[in-house]
Amino acid sequence: MQISFVVPDEVKAGAWVVGAVEGAQLLPAAGRADKACGGALSRALKFSSFTGKAGQFLELVAPAGLKASRILLAGLGKPDSVDEKGLETLGAQIVARLYGAGETVASIELDVPKSSKVKKAELAAHLAFGARLRSYAFDQYRTKNLEDYQKKLKALAVVAPDVAAARKAYAGLAAVADGIFLARDLVNEPPNVLFPGEFARRAKAQLSKLGVKVEVSGEAEMRRQGFGALLGVGQGSERESQLVVMQWNGGKKAQKPLALVGKGVCFDTGGISLKPGNALAGMKGDMAGAACVTGTMMALAARRAKVNVVGVIGLVENMPDGAAIRPDDVLTSLSGQTIEVLNTDAEGRLVLADALTYTQRRFKPKLVIDLATLTGAIVATLGFEHAGVFSNNDELVRRIQAAGRYTGERVWQLPLDPFYDKMIRSKIADMKNIGGPNSGAITAAQFLQRFVEKDMPWAHLDIAGVAWQDGEQKPTIPSWGTGWGVRLLNRMVIEHYEA
Ligand code: BES
Ligand code: MN
Ligand code: ZN
Repeated sequence: MQISFVVPDEVKAGAWVVGAVEGAQLLPAAGRADKACGGALSRALKFSSFTGKAGQFLELVAPAGLKASRILLAGLGKPDSVDEKGLETLGAQIVARLYGAGETVASIELDVPKSSKVKKAELAAHLAFGARLRSYAFDQYRTKNLEDYQKKLKALAVVAPDVAAARKAYAGLAAVADGIFLARDLVNEPPNVLFPGEFARRAKAQLSKLGVKVEVSGEAEMRRQGFGALLGVGQGSERESQLVVMQWNGGKKAQKPLALVGKGVCFDTGGISLKPGNALAGMKGDMAGAACVTGTMMALAARRAKVNVVGVIGLVENMPDGAAIRPDDVLTSLSGQTIEVLNTDAEGRLVLADALTYTQRRFKPKLVIDLATLTGAIVATLGFEHAGVFSNNDELVRRIQAAGRYTGERVWQLPLDPFYDKMIRSKIADMKNIGGPNSGAITAAQFLQRFVEKDMPWAHLDIAGVAWQDGEQKPTIPSWGTGWGVRLLNRMVIEHYEA
């Protein structure tokens, strides 16, 4: 789908999308559309339940007097509650409608309601961004009935009074969409295709051409350095574990980098503590934290963000095998701390432990944010609408939460406390890798905190409930992998860390 920005003009073909606010108040473009079709739109309004609420639509097919094939009237909701996130949802809903209608071309002409804070150029850009996010598809493994999956909509024009300003506002968002699509692709790929080596290869291929410095280390190098915890997880797999370090230096030389660390378990069987059958399918997505970090690096580099960021991802496959780690094994992590592995399915924290140590030692970052599909417990606690955030720094939490509210990728804070830390005491080593039957998302975070250096601002995002979704639950996310976190991290960088 081609997206363009155009000045207001007569719509010569396809759908003409216009807007109304609550109270069925037609915005100016909708008023013009109504006039052009001899008042058919306002007559249709009288006989419909359309009130202009967000998410409502009214469709007029082949209206007399118009070259357009249809008028699609979209509800924007209350004028003062129109915001960027809402416009993205609307852009996505419009595309979904046009897909259903089988239109090949369309023009969106929505006006900013007077009491909204959104600027005109931003309105067009965020509508376009939502439309683009909805156009994502992952169909390369289908060989049959391809026409059922093909989308007819080829060209979407978004009307903007100042085309140059709209294009400029959209450029940054298009970069973010690219990063989200990369993250979605990585999560959607089946695990026989996307194993650690292939993930690393793609990260390098996609990011180095944008100017990101990408280094890949294999097992020999990690063994030499002492990554005992990460390597322990991968030792039951035929596939070689990988560490990928991605550096984007768009900021000042002296500026300490922000560090993003991602869990990249390309498939999580649970290992010798094997998961039951129904819990195995879907575990190709257990690298979603790493996918988010990689997608964010792409977004930042593609829009040439003025910031220094380093992304570090630990890529492994957690498999049961004669060489696999056993429950009761003790591993020595890169930090030197020893870990008694009582459940090989609590593997993500082992991978992150070494990745966190490495990142802090090498880069002395300004702060560290890790992302991981870490626990089923976070899904039981927060479901699919919020990621969990754990942190040693309240200001960092506030920044993450604000970016979450702006983008719609919401996060909810859960506690860290010495009381929970006691739950991971081991009988023979420095700690054990499980905390017991209760508060599992918290004990996992306590475990990670043992690998965070003194005074290092750190936040852990447990994204197990938000990294993928069954069915179409959100208009901007048409398929399984959500690409969750790319928008949030990008927004945080814009608001607080860009020069
Ligand atoms: N990758 C899983 C967590 C997960 C569960 C992600 C469901 C997405 C959906 C993680 O490695 C895991 O297996 N965690 C265990 C920890 C337990 C053994 C302490 C869990 O949550 O059951
Ligand atoms: Mn697991
Ligand atoms: Zn896992």
